[in-house]
Amino acid sequence: MRSRCRLFYLLVVSVTVVSLGPAPQGAEAQNAAAAAAAEKEILLEFKGNVTSDPGGRLASWVAGGDPCRDFVGVFCNDAGAVVKILVHGADLVGTLPASLAGLRSIQIISLFGNGFSGGVPPEFAGIQTLHKLNVSRNLLSGDVPGFLGGLPGLRLLDLSYNAFSGEIPAILFSSCVRTRFVSLSHNALSGPIPADIANCSRLVGIDLSFNNLTGELIPQICQPPDINYISVRGNSLSGTVTDKVSMCQSLELFDLGSNSFSGTVPFDLLSLQNLSYFNVSSNKFHGEIREISVCSEKLRFFDVSSNELSGRIPPSIANCRGLRFLDLGFNNLSGSIPPEIGSLKSLSILRLGNNAGIGGSIPAQLDGIELLQILEVQDLQLSGEIPITLSNCRFLLELDVSGNDLTGVIPDTLYNMTYLKHLDLHQNQLNGSIPSTLGQLSNLVYLDLSDNSLTGTIPDSLGGLTLLTYFNVSHNNLSGAIPLAATIQQFGPSAFLNNSLLCGPPLSTPCTSGNVSRRTRVLTIPAIIAIVAAAIILNGVCVVTVMNIQAYGKKVMEEETLVSESTPPGSTGSNVIIGKLVLFSKSLPSRYEDWEAGTKALLDKDCMVGGGSIGTVYKATFEGGVSIAVKKLETLGRIRNQEEFEQEIGRLGGLRHLNLVAFHGYYWSSTMQLILSEFVSNGNLYDHLHGSPDLHSGSSSSGGRGELFWSRRFNIAIGAARALAYLHHDYTADNNKSGVGTFISTGCYSGTSTF
Ligand SMILES: *[C@@H]1O[C@H](CO)[C@@H](O)[C@H](O)[C@H]1NC(C)=O
Ligand SMILES: *[C@@H]1O[C@H](CO)[C@@H](O)[C@H](O)[C@H]1NC(C)=O
Ligand SMILES: *[C@@H]1O[C@H](CO)[C@@H](O)[C@H](O)[C@H]1NC(C)=O
Ligand SMILES: *[C@@H]1O[C@H](CO)[C@@H](O)[C@H](O)[C@H]1NC(C)=O
Ligand SMILES: *[C@@H]1O[C@H](CO)[C@@H](O)[C@H](O)[C@H]1NC(C)=O
Ligand SMILES: *[C@@H]1O[C@H](CO)[C@@H](O)[C@H](O)[C@H]1NC(C)=O
Ligand SMILES: *[C@@H]1O[C@H](CO)[C@@H](O)[C@H](O)[C@H]1NC(C)=O
Ligand SMILES: *[C@@H]1O[C@H](CO)[C@@H](O)[C@H](O)[C@H]1NC(C)=O
Ligand SMILES: *[C@@H]1O[C@H](CO)[C@@H](O)[C@H](O)[C@H]1NC(C)=O
Ligand SMILES: *[C@@H]1O[C@H](CO)[C@@H](O)[C@H](O)[C@H]1NC(C)=O
Ligand SMILES: *[C@@H]1O[C@H](CO)[C@@H](O)[C@H](O)[C@H]1NC(C)=O
Ligand SMILES: *[C@@H]1O[C@H](CO)[C@@H](O)[C@H](O)[C@H]1NC(C)=O
Repeated sequence: MRSRCRLFYLLVVSVTVVSLGPAPQGAEAQNAAAAAAAEKEILLEFKGNVTSDPGGRLASWVAGGDPCRDFVGVFCNDAGAVVKILVHGADLVGTLPASLAGLRSIQIISLFGNGFSGGVPPEFAGIQTLHKLNVSRNLLSGDVPGFLGGLPGLRLLDLSYNAFSGEIPAILFSSCVRTRFVSLSHNALSGPIPADIANCSRLVGIDLSFNNLTGELIPQICQPPDINYISVRGNSLSGTVTDKVSMCQSLELFDLGSNSFSGTVPFDLLSLQNLSYFNVSSNKFHGEIREISVCSEKLRFFDVSSNELSGRIPPSIANCRGLRFLDLGFNNLSGSIPPEIGSLKSLSILRLGNNAGIGGSIPAQLDGIELLQILEVQDLQLSGEIPITLSNCRFLLELDVSGNDLTGVIPDTLYNMTYLKHLDLHQNQLNGSIPSTLGQLSNLVYLDLSDNSLTGTIPDSLGGLTLLTYFNVSHNNLSGAIPLAATIQQFGPSAFLNNSLLCGPPLSTPCTSGNVSRRTRVLTIPAIIAIVAAAIILNGVCVVTVMNIQAYGKKVMEEETLVSESTPPGSTGSNVIIGKLVLFSKSLPSRYEDWEAGTKALLDKDCMVGGGSIGTVYKATFEGGVSIAVKKLETLGRIRNQEEFEQEIGRLGGLRHLNLVAFHGYYWSSTMQLILSEFVSNGNLYDHLHGSPDLHSGSSSSGGRGELFWSRRFNIAIGAARALAYLHHDYTADNNKSGVGTFISTGCYSGTSTF
């Protein structure tokens, strides 16, 4: 069948040519046509040897097609000869056919990312025209096809990510006149690096990484004058290096990671003009990091971690101005962290951990590294406090200062690092309480505060850290009830061990009134908000806005939860604690300053919008038109104490169902309990719980759009409040009195809402 087609094709071509030209040209064309047909045959054989083509990538390779025009991945020259075959990442399964060697002008064979198995056929040694062979990421095995080294035109040879084994054959480098790049990485090669590499006078890169090579680095590897890329990472090479690399003058990448090299680190290379990557990590290098008087401006990566380096960190490391990645961890370094590191403006990863001899304090100057993303200084002997300035590193993703002797409190400015995912402060001597602002770090995945001397309660705000996968506050001196939010409870009792004064689930210690009162005492914050206070309700004012000059100029922040006590506005300054306000909502400003600066709702009979089975519902309207529903519980006698109330409420707060009326928080005092939720007109909780469809379209309670809506409204409200705060500031400057004052608007709602 195939040969019949070929005959037919030949016939047509020859007839055409004969009719057009004189005899000699006709013969040439005839030859060309025959050659083209033969090449098509070879390609079809290649296809025939492919046993699986899941993506149908060779579907266009059919006997009736013109390879140069129709075969996807085949490219020809003007004479109609195939010069390139590019079939990448197609998961083709099969063997490489020897016949490919018959392609008379083939220059590039690039078949990476397939499932070809077996070896490279010896016939490939005859492909005199080949420039580039890339069979990376296949399943080829057997010996490295050393005969390819005899190809006079070969420039790029990539056999990486296969299963070749045995030694690297010297003949691979025999006629290495044009070869520029050779990669044998990620195979199973053993034995030494052949010295014949020196014969490759135009070599710029060699990648032998991730094999099982043994022996030493050879000086010949630096003999090709332009060599700029040397990677032998992940082998079993040993011996010294400094004496072997003096000839390397053009290096850009130098990677010796994960071997068994010893002696001193070749720090001389750091001065090479074009060096950008220097990795000698995970070897047995010893000695000191010497002064780095000249450092490549292009150096981005400097990794000497996991060796046996000793001595101090030279401040002159700051001469490597372009550094992005600096890892000196897991050595035997001593001295202190040079503050000069703070001048490395481009640094994004700084790892110094596990150097038992490094002491001193965390230099405040590190705040100069604006783009820092990872700071690991764990398991050193650092003392002193965590510098407050560190919070200027706003883009930190990971901060690990664990295993030191740090003292003082956890800076409550850490909330500035809004991207933080990993915060590890465990095993220090930090005291004071856990700042509730940690609850603003909503990206936190890992939070370890264990093994310190922290006191006070675990702030309820931490319940808003919904992404947490690790949380541990064990071995501290924390007290009071553990927040009931599921985000915290999920870690079980072992996250809370050895805090003798902690109580409530998941611990088996029940909270007695003693625990609770201790909790309350710890939470006392001066100058606190009130959203609602009994006194105000009884006063019968509808909606009022109270300004506080302290809030003037403060930045509006959103946060999930805040616990604080209320003081009745009438007694400003005296800090009489009459109750506690807890906010769960994202969309309400929950830092108490913001509430102080913002709007406060007062309730009376006119604002009463409904009565339910266990209480009365009021509507509180804030400046800007935002309303919340405030349900006053008539529970006296039914809910006996704060703890019980909070447990009930905690359950509600944990519910995050889209169609549920947003539950914003609660207020507790001994005489009154309030539940704050989103105000939904025309409808009751039942409808919203059970999804009455026509209600949802108009309601702002469902989904992210609603939240946006809320927070935008609130920003408007806060903006207005700020302006008033400014006026108020002027006013109180004369008056010399703080606190209460400005009436903004009144307004009540006349619909009904039932719970
Ligand atoms: C490859 O194809 C050729 C021709 O179709 C065939 O002779 C050869 O046996 C095949 N090789 C393998 C390994 O299938
Ligand atoms: C071979 O192909 C892989 C495909 O991922 C590519 O990364 C590699 O650079 C190529 N090798 C050469 C020498 O071009
Ligand atoms: C490399 O060159 C040296 C000296 O020119 C020669 O002796 C050696 O055989 C060459 N290596 C190979 C594998 O051809
Ligand atoms: C690497 O080679 C050494 C010595 O030749 C051998 O003991 C070891 O098992 C090899 N490792 C692997 C992963 O092949
Ligand atoms: C550094 O790189 C530049 C640009 O690639 C090149 O011109 C120069 O020769 C290189 N320097 C060295 C010492 O190799
Ligand atoms: C350096 O090499 C080590 C060990 O092979 C590796 O874990 C590390 O990621 C490398 N460093 C960089 C910056 O690539
Ligand atoms: C670490 O360095 C100190 C000197 O700074 C030295 O006394 C000690 O032996 C070194 N430890 C190791 C394990 O190399
Ligand atoms: C937060 O970061 C900004 C920007 O770097 C800085 O100006 C501000 O001082 C920081 N605030 C705190 C509390 O650290
Ligand atoms: C924390 O400890 C330091 C001493 O390390 C002490 O001066 C300070 O008063 C303590 N702070 C608290 C809140 O206990
Ligand atoms: C823990 O705190 C209690 C009082 O809150 C105090 O009596 C006790 O000494 C503290 N224990 C430690 C180890 O700090
Ligand atoms: C918290 O840390 C302690 C002490 O390191 C450990 O015993 C406990 O298992 C940890 N708990 C969790 C939940 O990781
Ligand atoms: C932790 O508490 C248990 C029992 O509560 C006690 O046996 C143990 O010694 C404590 N461990 C520490 C390190 O305080």
